Amino acid sequence: MSVSDSILPGKVPAHVAVIMDGNGRWAQMRDLPRQQGHMEGVKAVRRIAKAACKIGIRYLTLYAFSTENWGRPKEEVSALMALLVSCLHDEMPLFMDNGIRLRVIGQADVFLPEVRAALDAALEKTAGNTRMDLVLALSYSARWELIECAKNLARLAKAGQLDPETIDGSVIGNSLTTSFMPDPDLLIRTSGEYRISNFLLWQIAYSELFFSPVLWPDFTEEMFYAAIADYQKRDRRFGKISSSKTMLSTIKE
Ligand code: IPE
Ligand code: IPE
Ligand code: MG
Repeated sequence: MSVSDSILPGKVPAHVAVIMDGNGRWAQMRDLPRQQGHMEGVKAVRRIAKAACKIGIRYLTLYAFSTENWGRPKEEVSALMALLVSCLHDEMPLFMDNGIRLRVIGQADVFLPEVRAALDAALEKTAGNTRMDLVLALSYSARWELIECAKNLARLAKAGQLDPETIDGSVIGNSLTTSFMPDPDLLIRTSGEYRISNFLLWQIAYSELFFSPVLWPDFTEEMFYAAIADYQKRDRRFGKISSSKTMLSTIKE
């Protein structure tokens, strides 16, 4: 029996976010240039996007390039940008055959015109697809996003279009780049690192966390399904008490 058979169809997380980490180490372990690891990482993206579609995940957010990643050597950044452009072209059949709509969160205006053009074309081509949104976090960092949100709300307040007293969680949530989707139910990080690295800080307040020791290029469908099955066993209390305990106390009363 495959792990995917143990997934309960009624409890599939609506939104899974992934910190895809470990491409560089995967390559270094094989005496290959880091870029080779990123190329292998693309194959994992393909596998996991298909797997997510197959079990009915509605939103899959992938951390592909952080604001801080601009600080890597120029050759690595250029190779990553070139890989992104070729991927957007090569993976179009995957997006169209599986009903995948591509979305991007992050600081769009910092990309070179050819990267921006490839992104815009892919966003437009897939705009009518409705099975799953594949959200790429590109030049993204949560602190950048929160700073932008604060600036936008302050501008509205200054212009008299927003009463500061009405600012609540939903006003902030609606001002973030992720406003079109629910918060992640599950956050997966590969490569054995136990940190968030400036990803979706606001949105993961109540996400379930899953850390895998496996490097991203080695992450398989079965490992992904195992993470989902693990998530399905968890009791999400959101600060309250579990529904089974509530029932027990009702019986005792
Ligand atoms: C993740 O893999 C991909 C990106 C950050 C672009 P890394 O490149 O961070 O790989 P490691 O962590 O150095 O092994
Ligand atoms: C996080 O990985 C960013 C992405 C996966 C795109 P990093 O490798 O950049 O993060 P750190 O340096 O381990 O925190
Ligand atoms: Mg890394």
